[in-house]
Amino acid sequence: MKTCNVIGLGYIGLPTAIVIANSDIEVFGVDINDDIVRSVNNCISHIKEPNIENELRQIVNKKKLIALKEPCVSDVFLIAVPTPFKSKTDKKIPSANLDYVFSAIKSILPFLKDGNLVILESTCPVGTTREIDKFIKNQSNLNNVDLAYCPERVLPGNILNELINNDRIIGGINPSSSKKASAFYSKFCKGSLHITSSEVAEMTKLSENAYRDVNIAFANELSIICNELNINHNEVIKLANYHPRVNILNPGCGVGGHCIAVDPWFIAESVPDSSLLIQTSREVNNQKKMWSLNLIIEESKVFEIKKKRKPIIGYLGLTYKNDVCDLRESPSEEIALNLLDLGYDLLTCEPNLKKHEKINLFDKEMVLSESDIIVIMVAHKEFRKIRFEKYRIIDFCGISFLNSTENKTVKI
Ligand SMILES: NC(=O)c1ccc[n+]([C@@H]2O[C@H](COP(=O)([O-])OP(=O)(O)OC[C@H]3O[C@@H](n4cnc5c(N)ncnc54)[C@H](O)[C@@H]3O)[C@@H](O)[C@H]2O)c1
Repeated sequence: MKTCNVIGLGYIGLPTAIVIANSDIEVFGVDINDDIVRSVNNCISHIKEPNIENELRQIVNKKKLIALKEPCVSDVFLIAVPTPFKSKTDKKIPSANLDYVFSAIKSILPFLKDGNLVILESTCPVGTTREIDKFIKNQSNLNNVDLAYCPERVLPGNILNELINNDRIIGGINPSSSKKASAFYSKFCKGSLHITSSEVAEMTKLSENAYRDVNIAFANELSIICNELNINHNEVIKLANYHPRVNILNPGCGVGGHCIAVDPWFIAESVPDSSLLIQTSREVNNQKKMWSLNLIIEESKVFEIKKKRKPIIGYLGLTYKNDVCDLRESPSEEIALNLLDLGYDLLTCEPNLKKHEKINLFDKEMVLSESDIIVIMVAHKEFRKIRFEKYRIIDFCGISFLNSTENKTVKI
């Protein structure tokens, strides 16, 4: 295995292409987006990750990675294209949109040969890899292509390290596929490689994200309950977590991102009658977004009644989680757009973005000094040291509690 096409140069595909190119494999990075192909060949990363441009420059200069608009002949084809859900349907459970995956598979067919290895890294419903196998056999004369589902579980902000050091699940459609995929990943992965079937690998990936979603839903629901009972949920969570077997997560203004807010639906779609907890958790996390929007509106109305004018709302953080530049499914972005539609004045600070197409961005000092109410949406590192005591705040991510001097539990 000397050459590899990585199809899709996004948040996962680009760092993966870099890590593979740092082994003895020559990589062709393929993307349908012209701008991405051009920028990668110019050593510019369109995603923000520590050290990524430095790494990109080194391997592009050594010609170990070349970005292309279309695939080419190689030994391995690794698919990392998006798998969103179909949002514009009236079905209660959104279904997975596999159009990108199948269009990527179609695009490699003219170059695929028996003996090649195809790896699917895109998160997919159970059974998708087996469907791809049938599709390849139906659409070609090929009978001996190895195929494996190999998900990954990287943390945005630490992707390049985790791609190398995390354990991987290798789900071949047969033993030969698993063996070949393991040999491929062992060239650049230091973590253990765990071999299983493609179905178990698919379900493992979905279970990881559903597990996170369910646990965040518990924290989000707890924060709503505590608010109704006039109790500080941050203190409750902190004290409950002194229990040696309890670890309640931090609530937020909802759940976003391309994974946790999407993938649990892929389980629900397959087994709607048996996935009630997973579906309810999705709903709780979506509802937390609307609850947060309403809380900001209510607080603004209280201000308006007192001061006879609408408040200027200082809005801290737009991305779906802290310290990333990713806006996909971001609850904070959606809340901000709703507030702007309703005619509220927002002064928004998002240190991880240079600009936003619909929301004007300002620096932190300006936002803090000019706003009547500060809403803390995302716990970016730039906000963590602010002493919030002197501001009128609504804190959805608990950082004012962490900073506060009142946050000391008295030990008797
Ligand atoms: N982002 C994460 O943290 C993460 C983690 C684990 C798994 N995943 C999964 O990995 C997959 C990719 O996610 P991502 O975040 O990298 O998506 P992304 O949107 O950042 O990148 C996907 C890229 O694929 C390109 N593309 C689409 N169709 C194509 C085609 N037919 N040929 C070539 N390029 C094509 C797009 O232009 C885009 O640049 C998804 O299934 C996602 O669920 C993502």
